[in-house]
Amino acid sequence: MLNSISQRLQGKVALITGGASGIGAATARLFAKHGAKVLVADISRSETSVADDHPAISYVHCDVSKESDVREAVDAAVSMHGKLDVMFSNAGVVGRNNLRMDIAALERDDLERVFAVNVYGAFYAAKHAARVMIPRNQGGAILFTASYVTGALGESGHPYAASKHATVGLMKNLTVELGQYGIRVNALSPYGIPTPLSMGATGVTDPKLIEAGVTAKVGLGGAVLEANDVAEAALYLASEESKFISGLNIMVDGGQHLKSA
Ligand SMILES: NC(=O)c1ccc[n+]([C@@H]2O[C@H](COP(=O)([O-])OP(=O)(O)OC[C@H]3O[C@@H](n4cnc5c(N)ncnc54)[C@H](O)[C@@H]3O)[C@@H](O)[C@H]2O)c1
Repeated sequence: MLNSISQRLQGKVALITGGASGIGAATARLFAKHGAKVLVADISRSETSVADDHPAISYVHCDVSKESDVREAVDAAVSMHGKLDVMFSNAGVVGRNNLRMDIAALERDDLERVFAVNVYGAFYAAKHAARVMIPRNQGGAILFTASYVTGALGESGHPYAASKHATVGLMKNLTVELGQYGIRVNALSPYGIPTPLSMGATGVTDPKLIEAGVTAKVGLGGAVLEANDVAEAALYLASEESKFISGLNIMVDGGQHLKSA
């Protein structure tokens, strides 16, 4: 039976990587509001510590590019709360000069850094979530933050675009393997939202400029894309309301990628 509308994750335990800021922090707050116990796993506690916002949210230091950190974060969720129901692999970075496509200028270091966090981090998150979800035999939900660039080409540098396509590829392949255990696997692909990541990538210092640019491009009656819009989609994918949804990459972009196709 579905939980009540106000507590859609009652009794669930969620781990959110990159949950100290932006999309991850908005999702941590929304999941906690809906009754989940949330462990934020991040390399930074950030200025406005999300773990101080709600008694159901706690924080563990974790660099997702290190498998041992991800293993320990998952073990911490299980030792604190007895299980893991939802893994949200959301931590991400952009490459240097991410707005420029220039394969001839590619530097190996940059490629490695982007893949270490965005791709290897996603693999470790999925691996260690599955490690504790499968033996428990109670299903689970694994979510990834991919990006609008998985639906619209030429919108970022190659390392970032390739890393997010790899994330979606991993999500789809995992859907086939993990479905037999009742574990659903999905991705979220947002368009531009003002966060430290996107502001660093664009060099835009006023968040309102990013919001206004996205609103003007997308149209959609002047709607403004916010981190909470991604959090709401994550809530749906984490909850029992999406019990038959697996293998989906939800574009949280107001349909913008279809215009660019
Ligand atoms: N903001 C956007 O416009 C946008 C659009 C599409 C996709 N995304 C994706 O959304 C995700 C979240 O980004 P955001 O926009 O909320 O940015 P953000 O800067 O607000 O948050 C990113 C978080 O990831 C953490 N992080 C970075 N490297 C880490 C590591 N090695 N280990 C653990 N944590 C690490 C940071 O400390 C930060 O808290 C990323 O995967 C990003 O690629 C963002």
